[in-house]
Amino acid sequence: MGEPLLIRASLLNPVGADHWVFYRDGGLLVHEGRILCMGPMSEFRQQKVSAMLELDSLLVPGFVDVHIHWVQHHVRGRFQSDLMEWLRNHIWPEEIEFDNELFARRHAQTFFHDTTRAGTTLGMAYSSPHVRALEIAASEAIGDWVLGNSIMEKAAPEPLCRASPDNADQVAPLLKKLGHEHYAVTPRFALNCSAELMRELGDLARRENALIQTHLSESLNEVREIREAFPEAQDYTDVYDRAGLLGPRSVLGHCIHLSPREHETLARRGAWIAHCPSSNEALDSGRMDLQAVRRHGIRYALASDVGAGPSHSMLHVMQRFLAQHRDAGVDVNAREALYHATLAGAECLGRDDRAGSFAPGKRADFVELPLPDRRGGPDHWFESLLAGEARDLEERPLRTWIGGSPVDLGQEEDGDDWPPLG
Ligand code: GUN
Ligand code: ZN
Repeated sequence: MGEPLLIRASLLNPVGADHWVFYRDGGLLVHEGRILCMGPMSEFRQQKVSAMLELDSLLVPGFVDVHIHWVQHHVRGRFQSDLMEWLRNHIWPEEIEFDNELFARRHAQTFFHDTTRAGTTLGMAYSSPHVRALEIAASEAIGDWVLGNSIMEKAAPEPLCRASPDNADQVAPLLKKLGHEHYAVTPRFALNCSAELMRELGDLARRENALIQTHLSESLNEVREIREAFPEAQDYTDVYDRAGLLGPRSVLGHCIHLSPREHETLARRGAWIAHCPSSNEALDSGRMDLQAVRRHGIRYALASDVGAGPSHSMLHVMQRFLAQHRDAGVDVNAREALYHATLAGAECLGRDDRAGSFAPGKRADFVELPLPDRRGGPDHWFESLLAGEARDLEERPLRTWIGGSPVDLGQEEDGDDWPPLG
């Protein structure tokens, strides 16, 4: 079935939060979409290959975005205000439009084009509540995606609540249809769901070992509203814990305003945090307490949270991660940023056996970046690639490879130039 392809390039391979392996002159041997091996080029001299490709580039594993709203892509970064006001005035009215299948398909195509262009090869995304929009996104996906339609039975515009499943029996068939690898049970956040509905969803997810995604403690106003809506719970985290929604397959967006008790609960349950630094800056939500998260040993992966996040570029997310925590005097470095934007994300989504780093047997999904200024070590190299405005960073990857081939994205499309829907 053909000979392997040897790709010669500089390689940066995340291994852990504080460790990566760097080959200035590296080789990556790829066969039938998978990685056979990687190492310094000197180890490949004797290798029998059908082809060798020499790239004047830096290769890193495909980026992983564990929390993004594909239905908010074309309104990303437009509004800056309090979370609850932003949702009610801007985001929910926008999501109502995804009832229209043509609108949904066009937006799905643009979303996957743009995220792939920016180097994201694996991700987990929120859809609007509409089942058809979810199915359309699943059919248009490029790369490996987990999707979930936002479940919202109350405290939101009536068309969204009407479109949403309001019991677990309506969710189970979606899990079956998209499959466990590609569907996440998605109670949008506790303000949109009753305790009873969340309990049903928690039971379903546990029974099926499904991924769960939701939002936790993003803004202070949200926390205040939660306290009023769930007086029986000790705190926001307890609302989800009582519903059985916290476990190693749960991915909780934001987790900013948490008490030590809540951090302890997340650590005990083995739940993941989707850390969204660029979104948290944009909505002035606050800074996730990275030191507390580290101290409690809570696992986290980076995410753009588009549309609150202004850009789907994980290079931009890494830039804001480093800047935000450094501003607060917290020690962070490029290795930690890259690990949490790749391998940690794959671990979070249960895909680290096949994605997130260069290792034998994994998919050959990677991002080709321009070679930076050759002075200094890899930390300097990588950080220089994170400099720039969001739009520059979205276009910085030279190419995105999925399954051992560069993705052909065809003509650049711009969703804003479409003719109006008639
Ligand atoms: N909380 C509930 N829904 C949303 C959303 O769409 N975006 C963000 N950032 N937070 C939320
Ligand atoms: Zn979100």
